Amino acid sequence: MSDSIAITSGKGGVGKTTFAVNLSIAQKKFTDQVFLLDTDMGMANSHVLLGVNPKYSISDVISGEKKISEIIENYRIGIDLISGGTASNNLLNLENVKRYSILNEIDNHLKTFKNVKLMVDIAAGAEDNALVFSLACDRILIVIVGEPTSFIDSYALIKALYSKSSFKNYCVAVNQVDNDSHGKDLFKKFQSITAKFLDVNLHYVGCVKSSQKIRKSIVDRKPISISEPKSEISQSFLKIAKNINETPSNEWGGLTFLSKVQKRA
Ligand SMILES: Nc1ncnc2c1ncn2[C@@H]1O[C@H](COP(=O)(O)OP(=O)(O)O)[C@@H](O)[C@H]1O
Ligand SMILES: [Mg+2]
Repeated sequence: MSDSIAITSGKGGVGKTTFAVNLSIAQKKFTDQVFLLDTDMGMANSHVLLGVNPKYSISDVISGEKKISEIIENYRIGIDLISGGTASNNLLNLENVKRYSILNEIDNHLKTFKNVKLMVDIAAGAEDNALVFSLACDRILIVIVGEPTSFIDSYALIKALYSKSSFKNYCVAVNQVDNDSHGKDLFKKFQSITAKFLDVNLHYVGCVKSSQKIRKSIVDRKPISISEPKSEISQSFLKIAKNINETPSNEWGGLTFLSKVQKRA
C-alpha cells in the first residue's frame, strides 16, 4: 500500500536525517518506489548523508523555475530524493499558501506511481513548517534519545501536533541506545509521561544502538544500510521500517500527500 511517513523530533541532532535516509533505503524492501523529501534545512541534510549533490531543490519549485518532476534526484533504482536545498533558501519562513502548493505538486507527481512510499525529513520542533509537513503524512515517527530535553521537547511536539489535528497515532523510535532493553525502557518512560497528559497512542517501533559506524557513514557520505546491509544497525532500521508500516495510519480531513489520492481512488 502506498503511504507517507514524517520523520520528526522535538529537538535537533537526535538522528532524524540518519533515520530518514536509512529508513528510505529499508522501505525499498517493501515497496517499488521510495521518495525521500527533505524539508529540514539542518546541518547534515539528507543529500549530504546520501552522498549526492542535487542540482536543484524545492527552492527552485518555490521560485517557480522548476516543476517537482524536474528536481527529483535519482539515488538508486527506486529511491529518489527531493532535496530541500540549503539553509540560505530555507523552507522555514514559507507562507501556508506556498506550503500547500508544494504539497499539492508532490501529491500530483506521486499519483503517477502505483506502489510508492514517501519519507519526509522534518525540521525539529513544533514550528508551523514542521507541523504542516508532518500532518500531511499518514504516519508520524518521533525520534527520541535518552535525554530529558528530548523527552520534554518531544512531548511538546506531540501536544502541538495533536492539538492541530485528530492524529492519535504516533510511532516512536529511540536512537543511540546501549541495547534493546535500554531502548524499550526509555520508550516506556516517555510513554508514561505522555499518557498522563495526552490521549494519544504511542507505538514503539524499535531502537538503534549508538554506533561508531553511523558516525563514520556520515563522514563517508555512504549510508550504513547501503554499505553494510547485513549489519546489526541496518537490520534495526529494517525492523523499524516494517514496524512503522504495521502501525495504524492517521485519518485527516486536511491536505495530505498520498492518503488523499487513495481516498479518491
Ligand atoms: N545511532 C547513532 N550512533 C552514533 N551517532 C549517531 C547515531 N544517530 C545519529 N548520530 C550522530 O548524530 C548526529 C546528528 O544526526 P542527524 O541524523 O543529522 O540528526 P538530526 O537530523 O536529528 O539533526 C550525526 O552527526 C550522527 O553522526
Ligand atoms: Mg537533520
